[in-house]
Amino acid sequence: MNDDLHQKIQDTIAQPKNLGEMENADAVGTVGSADCGDMLRMWIKFREEDGRKVIDKASFQTFGCETAIAVASLATQLIQGKTPEEALAMDGAALSAPLGPLPPMKIHCAQLVEGALRQALGAAPKPVAAPKAAPMAPTLMDSFGTPAATKKTIILK
Ligand code: FES
Repeated sequence: MNDDLHQKIQDTIAQPKNLGEMENADAVGTVGSADCGDMLRMWIKFREEDGRKVIDKASFQTFGCETAIAVASLATQLIQGKTPEEALAMDGAALSAPLGPLPPMKIHCAQLVEGALRQALGAAPKPVAAPKAAPMAPTLMDSFGTPAATKKTIILK
């Protein structure tokens, strides 16, 4: 994760917006990631505006990583005033856009937020990408298991 993204996440979670259960919500969506064990719930309240049903406010709770908290905080702000259809058109990348592009291992965190939103709005869930681990350097055990590429001969004199 680059320093700029890390700083944006830290700034966002320092004062998360719309955190907590919403009483009298019109809709609620809950999703969990089997891969990382994180869970996120989103509450939504609608209002009528110019004859259209729009999202008045949204809130969230999560047992999630910092990225999920940051994206959920941003998402609850981004969807305010949108119709359910407009909100559903936003995928994880759109909901996390203020943070900038997420690294592959954090894309599922934004998809968790998207999933809770979709469930709250009654849309079919999309598959959530499994977290991608960062590539690891070969270990000593790996080198023991790798046959030598060339045959060496030792000559004793
Ligand atoms: Fe699973 Fe972020 S939601 S690591």
